[in-house]
Amino acid sequence: MATRAGAGAAVAGAAVVAVLSAALVLYGPPLDAVLKRAFSLHKAHSVKDMENTLQLVRNIIPPLTTKKHKGQDGRIGVVGGCREYTGAPYFAAISALKVGADLSHVFCTQEAAPVIKSYSPELIVHPVLDSPDAARAVGEWLPRLHALVVGPGLGRDHVLLENVKGILEASKARGVPVVIDADGLWLIAQEPALVQGYQKAVLTPNHVEFSRLSEAVLGDPLDGRDRRGAVLRLSQALGNVTVVQKGEQDVISDGTQVLECSHEGSSRRCGGQGDLLSGSLGVLVHWALQAGPSKTDGPSSLLVAALGACALTRQCSRQAFQKHGRSTTTTDMIAELGPAFSRLFED
Ligand SMILES: *[C@@H]1O[C@H](CO)[C@@H](O)[C@H](O)[C@H]1NC(C)=O
Repeated sequence: MATRAGAGAAVAGAAVVAVLSAALVLYGPPLDAVLKRAFSLHKAHSVKDMENTLQLVRNIIPPLTTKKHKGQDGRIGVVGGCREYTGAPYFAAISALKVGADLSHVFCTQEAAPVIKSYSPELIVHPVLDSPDAARAVGEWLPRLHALVVGPGLGRDHVLLENVKGILEASKARGVPVVIDADGLWLIAQEPALVQGYQKAVLTPNHVEFSRLSEAVLGDPLDGRDRRGAVLRLSQALGNVTVVQKGEQDVISDGTQVLECSHEGSSRRCGGQGDLLSGSLGVLVHWALQAGPSKTDGPSSLLVAALGACALTRQCSRQAFQKHGRSTTTTDMIAELGPAFSRLFED
């Protein structure tokens, strides 16, 4: 089993990995010495910081063994997919599988289901999201799911959003972790109470989605000069729900700490990249909660999961760009998930 001492020794071999600088800004209570080292702001130690940071992520990854039965490493559900959007739920669900989930379900509308099935025989697709019975139908699966990713390709149809409300309520009642992205965040901006105080929720807004949430929850237009402060405030206002603001750097907060992921990615911003992030994060959230706080050494489990998913998405983008340059698409990035994961987390 990997240990922190092992991570120190691994620094020597760290040259193979790209520079990741994760900075921790202390707003809350002081953290233990290891963490302060791990998230040191000193650029001179960036390789070591990266090693320590990635080690926290490595600590939550369940080892591959032949002893486990199918499903133990993650059964993930994606809620989204409608007439207009079928790519996003596919990208999220296939990313979850490629990160290491054993099973990936998609809960979409009746029309979207055959399209999503035709993209991949590897996904389990349920055509239930536009049924009057949607919340109950998804609810029946909840005991068998480890995390839900809500929002990829959801759209803003009122009937669908009402159904998703029911699904969110049922997930909270069962304590199923939820990652919320895209039009799932549109719903949260209309009704922040849906996630208020739910400690197993992670929101992954881009700039526009973040502004909308910030206005809805705090009544503040976004202060672009203080992104860290803005993310911290939104997280706190939502009762310490974990918030991942995607951008040139990804800024992550759980209401106590703020982390920044500026792992080198690429300058290519193709649509669908966010779905890769949300799908990967669904798996990492499950692993982090399963591993428990002792494995993440201070920062909350969800903070470490989010940092891992951000670094992984950036590494995929970088590797895909090296091969495909300007023509890089999300499919190219997904093809890099395996090698990028090994490179970051399995050295
Ligand atoms: C959120 O975290 C802050 C900082 O640790 C703490 O002061 C506050 O009480 C927490 N809020 C809730 C609702 O748990």
